[in-house]
Amino acid sequence: MRIAVFNTKPYDQRFLEAANAAHGFELVFLEAHLGERTATLAQGCEAICTFVNDPLPAATLEVLHGLGVRLIALRCAGFNQVDLKAADRLGMTVARVPAYSPFAVAEHAVALILTLNRCIHRAYNRVREGNFQLEGLLGFDLYGKTVGVIGTGKIGAIFANIMRGFGTQVLAYDPYPNPDLTAVEYVTLEELLRQSDVVSLHCPLTPLTQHLMDSSRLALLKRGAMLVNTSRGALIDTPAAIGALKSGQIGALALDVYEEEGDLFFENLSNAVIQDDVFSRLLTFPNVLITGHQAFFTREALENIARTTLQNIAAFSSGAGELHRVELERVAPVPAPSA
Ligand code: NAI
Repeated sequence: MRIAVFNTKPYDQRFLEAANAAHGFELVFLEAHLGERTATLAQGCEAICTFVNDPLPAATLEVLHGLGVRLIALRCAGFNQVDLKAADRLGMTVARVPAYSPFAVAEHAVALILTLNRCIHRAYNRVREGNFQLEGLLGFDLYGKTVGVIGTGKIGAIFANIMRGFGTQVLAYDPYPNPDLTAVEYVTLEELLRQSDVVSLHCPLTPLTQHLMDSSRLALLKRGAMLVNTSRGALIDTPAAIGALKSGQIGALALDVYEEEGDLFFENLSNAVIQDDVFSRLLTFPNVLITGHQAFFTREALENIARTTLQNIAAFSSGAGELHRVELERVAPVPAPSA
């Protein structure tokens, strides 16, 4: 079976080739992102393999279907980039890697919190320039603070348990509470926002969670709280967050994802003029820390992504074995704030 692998970076190729030793598929590695025009590069392939920032709207799916593509093997967990209804209508199978390393993402969220709170990113630069002043680097003890976790699935549960290890009280909000997560207190979203010193987002992006953190919910935060998003960029209304940073309502913002990241992340733009003024404004705040969607990026995660992606393709082609077909996620409407 021939598979067009879009949006390939050298590390993707290394890990996919290693995992393919057990299968022997013909992998066609393409640097191009998937789009309506580049979709034709999948000519002669029964499957394509794509990443988080390869959009799959109906028009692209139709082009792919016309070329004979029947399987979309996502090498990621999230699938908000795929028009699932269109895929279903066309009879195309969409598979994903449901869990490759929830530890990687949870640990990255913790790394962001520690770095931002203790200003490690600023201290690193200062020390290299011979500036050993401490003014501007003041943090707070995590011990004894309250951490709010929105979404307590695989990643959120691990994150909650790590934060418990710091001696924090953990509040959680999830329309489907996790029965294995006993050391947290489930509360309403509003209570969580009002009481937490740090709020971390771990729910999926769906039409129901789009701009979950809009201006009305940002206003419910404890003044000066830290907000962390390692989930999907559009969970936060970015212009509203910028307003909240300017007013001091948000005390610190850590992001691994950004709602318009498709034009920025995963590329070296160090010689380009960034055209996104909202993103550029975010970079000007001393209390904002951004990483470029790297929370998943550990050796273990890349091995698991490659192995599961090829297992999905093998299960589709042989009709045997486990195929992680995308199912409609358990999501519920987010309650509107009462104040
Ligand atoms: P999961 O499916 O195990 O957990 C998601 C949880 O969110 C579930 O418990 C679900 O009930 C809950 N949820 C659904 N709607 C909600 C709502 N309205 N409010 C609060 N909770 C809600 O997913 P997992 O593996 O924990 O991943 C979470 C998210 O992390 C993914 O959807 C993905 O967007 C993101 N992610 C980010 C990565 C990165 O590199 N930055 C890598 C992998 C995932």
